[in-house]
Amino acid sequence: MSSLELRGITVRYGRFTAVENVDLLVPEGTVTGLVGGSGSGKSTLGKAVVGLAPTRSGRVLVDGADAAPRRGHSPVQLVFQNPYASLDPRMSVGASVAEALPDGVSGRRTPARERRAARDAEVARFLELVGIDPARAVLTPDALSGGQRQRVALARALAARPAVLIADEITSALDVSVQGAVLNLLRRLQRELGFAMLFISHNLAVVRYLCDQVAVMDGGHLVECGPTDRVLERPEHPTTRNLISCVPTLALAEEAS
Ligand SMILES: Nc1ncnc2c1ncn2[C@@H]1O[C@H](COP(=O)(O)OP(=O)(O)O)[C@@H](O)[C@H]1O
Ligand SMILES: [Mg+2]
Repeated sequence: MSSLELRGITVRYGRFTAVENVDLLVPEGTVTGLVGGSGSGKSTLGKAVVGLAPTRSGRVLVDGADAAPRRGHSPVQLVFQNPYASLDPRMSVGASVAEALPDGVSGRRTPARERRAARDAEVARFLELVGIDPARAVLTPDALSGGQRQRVALARALAARPAVLIADEITSALDVSVQGAVLNLLRRLQRELGFAMLFISHNLAVVRYLCDQVAVMDGGHLVECGPTDRVLERPEHPTTRNLISCVPTLALAEEAS
């Protein structure tokens, strides 16, 4: 089980400060929901964690140590909103997942044929984990539905054995009918594999279903953070109250659980 800690993260795009001095702890093996209005800096903070944003200052700690990539593999993986953009359209989905596997799944001295077989078995294992028939590994993403692509994107992220997963609005591009299935899958895998997760969403019902803790952003600042029930039932910050008042009912969470 792993934890994620952000200390004093500041991100600037030119002179514009998109994220300012954010401290956040995602305790070992738990899920923190990151919510806030559009443009509040959620995606920028998620990108900063994986080094994809112009971070001016701050530290990212995984299990208490600086989260530097080890042998080219980052301990933090990011899954984006749009599964159409996150998979290479020219690569088979099997190859996309295989690319994410850490080196040396089997030893370098093993014959190429055996290495390939071991790699294929690993790819099949991860596709099965997300509910995709491994026989579909040969297909390119255009042969899959949006929900299936998002499952493959998840398989690819998990294949890298992340200690931390950042999920940025991963169901918002999907048809409502498959959103629940992808969220259930994510919750199950998070519990089984024990990674820490930063779950970025504007959907408070989904956050209530999935998250142990909720962090609220406004204008690049983290304005409130606490246990999910406390934050949603007794919000302390006006921004949080505002977000809650925009949801006519949080009934979806009851349906989903
Ligand atoms: N690449 C970029 N260049 C300049 N400004 C950006 C860039 N990405 C995001 N921003 C700005 O930073 C702010 C936060 O954006 P973002 O992190 O995407 O918010 P959210 O995910 O909460 O909707 C917004 O004002 C947005 O316009
Ligand atoms: Mg965003």
